[in-house]
Amino acid sequence: MLIQRPQDIAPSEITTEALYHGRRSFIQRAGSLALLGSSGLLADTALAAPLTGFRPGAPLPADKPTRLKDITSYNNYYEFGLDKDEPARTAGALKTRPWTVTVEGLCNKPRSFALDDLLKLAPLEERIYRMRCVEGWSMVIPWVGFPLSSLLKLVEPQGSAKFVAFSTLADRAQMPGLQRPVLNWPYTEGLRLDEALHPLTILAVGLYGETLLPQNGAPIRLVVPWKYGFKGAKSIVRIRLIEAMPATAWNTAAPQEYGFYSNVNPDVDHPRWSQATERRIGEFSKRKTLPFNGYAEQVAALYTGMDLKKHF
Ligand code: MTE
Repeated sequence: MLIQRPQDIAPSEITTEALYHGRRSFIQRAGSLALLGSSGLLADTALAAPLTGFRPGAPLPADKPTRLKDITSYNNYYEFGLDKDEPARTAGALKTRPWTVTVEGLCNKPRSFALDDLLKLAPLEERIYRMRCVEGWSMVIPWVGFPLSSLLKLVEPQGSAKFVAFSTLADRAQMPGLQRPVLNWPYTEGLRLDEALHPLTILAVGLYGETLLPQNGAPIRLVVPWKYGFKGAKSIVRIRLIEAMPATAWNTAAPQEYGFYSNVNPDVDHPRWSQATERRIGEFSKRKTLPFNGYAEQVAALYTGMDLKKHF
């Protein structure tokens, strides 16, 4: 994982973002936060389509969303290349329809969901989250998605289920990066069941009021705001409820550097660099990294009694 500076953007490139702000204030003025009604939602091509059926989330007073241009052009998605600007250039043709997410394992009602059906079952919300990458940069992203718990409840996890494992698309025909054995494909991630059920944990299908672009993990990806960004598996196809802690892509590739928990923790340095500070994309000076990425109040209790230097 390399650190690069984003390119400056021209004002002409922020049209969608300006529209978003306009639409967002319109939705807020509309008063009723009830769903506006699910629309067609996702395109089957790489183009983003407007999302209208979501409730606006509470704005974070001190955290201005990162520019859309930066969120969509400064990415980690190794299936589409190792450089930050590669996914935006090479992922455009990713076919996101039809798309099926299979949820299986230790549950009473294992099931495969066509994505459009899933979106009808799970009301969409906007969640403006701080995101912190293990490489030392951060963004604020206005995601649109739904709590992962809503999906897991539909399949009725059994008492023996302790962990949730995520697998993502690995299609050599569409993903040039798979030719390189940098990770053990498909990209996999995992959460403890209580982390997966936490209300902050969402499956995102959009950002800035539009469907996700491929480089951000279209059509559906995990977002866990108190953990380093690599937990956010992109383009998910399979979710399994299991008893034992699953292998994860980064932990398998470099266990000394990337732990299973991966909670944002300024006190646990990455072996090759400090995690004490971060550079918010679009800002010049660095800021201090907060424990659990600033979400300690909501999530610290999940780790009571654990040594978070050992379980990094
Ligand atoms: N998911 C897949 N399938 N492949 C990847 O390479 N990279 C991870 C994560 N999810 C990755 C992935 C890493 S390292 C990060 S930091 C985030 O996606 C980046 O998400 P973003 O590009 O939307 O900011």
